[in-house]
Amino acid sequence: MSINSTNYKSNIRLENILIIGNGGRENSLAWVIQKNQLVKKVYLIPGNAGSERINKCERIKIDINNKNELIGKLNFLKIDLIVIGPEIPLANGLADFLRKNDFKVFGPGKDGARLEYSKSWAKEFMQDANIPTANFWKVNTLEEAKKIIHSSPSPLVVKADGLASGKGVFIPDSKDECFRAAESILNGKFGESGNMVVLEEKIQGPEVSVFALCDGERYILLPTAQDHKRLNEKDKGPNTGGMGAYSPAPLLTEDYLNRIIKEIIEPTIDQLNKKNIDYKGVIYFGLMITKSGPKVIEYNCRFGDPECQTIMPLMDQNFVFLLEKCSMGNLNGDEKINTSDKVSGCVIATSRGYPFEYKTGFPIKIGKIDSNDCQIFDSGTSLSKDGELLTDGGRVLSIVCQDKNFDMVFEKAYKNLKEINFDGIYYRNDIGNQVRKNFYKEN
Ligand code: AMP
Ligand code: GLY
Repeated sequence: MSINSTNYKSNIRLENILIIGNGGRENSLAWVIQKNQLVKKVYLIPGNAGSERINKCERIKIDINNKNELIGKLNFLKIDLIVIGPEIPLANGLADFLRKNDFKVFGPGKDGARLEYSKSWAKEFMQDANIPTANFWKVNTLEEAKKIIHSSPSPLVVKADGLASGKGVFIPDSKDECFRAAESILNGKFGESGNMVVLEEKIQGPEVSVFALCDGERYILLPTAQDHKRLNEKDKGPNTGGMGAYSPAPLLTEDYLNRIIKEIIEPTIDQLNKKNIDYKGVIYFGLMITKSGPKVIEYNCRFGDPECQTIMPLMDQNFVFLLEKCSMGNLNGDEKINTSDKVSGCVIATSRGYPFEYKTGFPIKIGKIDSNDCQIFDSGTSLSKDGELLTDGGRVLSIVCQDKNFDMVFEKAYKNLKEINFDGIYYRNDIGNQVRKNFYKEN
């Protein structure tokens, strides 16, 4: 990383870092942060069983909603930097609260998190700034929804306005299904998150994820990534949080990325500034590359999961400096991230039944792992009383590998997966098919 780290590190204290969240994303952040020599300890609230296998890491049991206890604990631990992983605490204003208590925080305040927690707000934000996105209508009654669905030439995408753990988006094939989706949302399927419905024109093209680390004014981009949202091979089955990812995404050439910067990233940051939103955190641009150019499908106010697990092993030990600089509004904007010259891929092992109902508590057996440029980040695990590793979530493990090319990356990842077993283990065998030689050649 060509941020001048020698000068930079003499001025800051980064001994004790806190990460909030309990998934593979937070474990991969902890893993890259602890690489820095200045860092003595990385605490996770609440983390998961895998957090404890990461060097310098310790889990803390505390309810983040108990504000007095939280502040007391963070002062006691002399926390120098806090990184907030998931969207819910961000949407609830945790970053604002911690900043008011004089902590350095990487993560936007409630105003910035609105990019994710209100889809209608984000769509109007894009419309006002002329940022390319699918046409949309926001409605709060079924009558209005029906009128728009009727008059549209083809079925529309139907979304709950608020947070719905990735389950609030419907892509119906018929107008009838559109009505039913709108009705179920407005009837309270997602509680208050469904008080408003956003109807969107259905657009087409491959999806890519772009991440900008922002300090309120300036930004730098992480390597791009592509994730695999559908549960089954050949992109069939229901949407999930993400079944695997690879980085960088060769689909985005430098020229194309420059176009995205000009048409999407810079206008987004300008618009945040216009609205007096001091955004200190990561903006996740979920993009679709359509025939008429890149369009924003969604913004998120956090790192993607599993994109984060995939990208972090490409970062060097100075990554934590970037997070700190963002938290302080100190980016120069010309920092170059010195990524490894390797590429990275991640396959998620899930519990049978995910993304719907699934059972947990099954012992996880891990055999002989090739750990050379491979990481296993726990996504949903716990320990039994006897210290045995157990499944404890829909997404259980993130198997991440790096190598010279994607064929080698996924060969290693799948070889390692053969060494991992638990009752009901499921994963896609075609993660990275777009970048593996001759995969699906028959099609
Ligand atoms: P979101 O949570 O808004 O990212 O939506 C989840 C997924 O639904 C996206 O990753 C896309 O695959 C799909 N999607 C969302 N909006 C649209 C749209 N307007 N047209 C086509 N597909 C969409
Ligand atoms: N991988 C998609 C997400 O984090 O929302």
